[in-house]
Amino acid sequence: MSTNKQNSIGVDSGKHRLLSGVKPTGQPHIGNYFGAMKQFVDLQNDYKSSIFIADLHALTSVQSKEELREATLNVAIDYLAIGLDSKKTLIFKQSDTPQVTELAWIFSCLTTMPYLMRAHTFKDAEAKNKDINVGVFEYPLLMAADILLNDADVVPVGLDQAQHLEIARDTARVFNRMFEETFKEPKALILENVKIVPGTDGQKMSKSYNNTIPLFATDEEIKKAVMSIPTDSRGVNDAKDPETDKVFALHKLFSDKNSLMELGEKYRKGGIGYKESKEILIKSVSMCVAPLREKRAKIAQDRQGVTDMLEEAGKRAYAHAEEKMKEVREKVGLTLE
Ligand code: TRP
Repeated sequence: MSTNKQNSIGVDSGKHRLLSGVKPTGQPHIGNYFGAMKQFVDLQNDYKSSIFIADLHALTSVQSKEELREATLNVAIDYLAIGLDSKKTLIFKQSDTPQVTELAWIFSCLTTMPYLMRAHTFKDAEAKNKDINVGVFEYPLLMAADILLNDADVVPVGLDQAQHLEIARDTARVFNRMFEETFKEPKALILENVKIVPGTDGQKMSKSYNNTIPLFATDEEIKKAVMSIPTDSRGVNDAKDPETDKVFALHKLFSDKNSLMELGEKYRKGGIGYKESKEILIKSVSMCVAPLREKRAKIAQDRQGVTDMLEEAGKRAYAHAEEKMKEVREKVGLTLE
């Protein structure tokens, strides 16, 4: 295996490499934050981290220039606001490493159609709509190219992406067998195990269930979301089971252990009504969200600064991708000497 001299990335080269991609899609919510986003921030100290905005992947579903540009910039702002540090993590735009499309093509020539047809995402998309684009079919190979070109050791992703990681590993193996040992087999770091965040209706928080609290919500939005949580008809003095209450389920995310225990006691004994419980929740959510929201507003004022940061990081990512891609071109016979 070749030694990796990616010191251009500027981070301790002894650390393992972490890579993940985020699709630019709309406003993040509390569930995205606790389920995935926050982990990238926590992990950036332990790994040589790269997080990229998957704008090429987004093209499978977004076909509007304005929408894509806006969403791409917004993801960068979101991640900076929650504490991703551009000095520790390379935050770049996927399309600044066009080598991934070149590699995806090479991979598509080593991969059989029946194999890719087994991808859940493809099957689901096809079940919904027969007229899907080729990009949807090719999606896992572009993702494999992202990961393998980066020499990533670990890839934190949600459970829904686990099969894509398997495809990346299989693809590395096939390439290494057909040509020479070139790619590492990356490990998935499945994030869904960390926490399933309940929404305002008790189901998993998800945009499609309409039960979210936006991550950068205003106080008014927080209040509205919390007040919409359904509760039963028990009065203030009735004993309540905290484990079945949807308000309490959210307290678990926002309260420290002691306050949570105290609150649980009050629930069981009686003495706290849902209204009071919701008021406490509004305060705790706001305490978590307000600083993030303020930081985001500040960063969003300097769009040029964010664009410059992305461009700079894009250049570094390009340099690494090009180095690796040269090796690949040579190994498959695309160079003549
Ligand atoms: N498919 C991923 C998602 O929808 C995004 C993604 C694209 C990605 N390329 C990647 C994630 C490479 C990890 C590594 O969430």
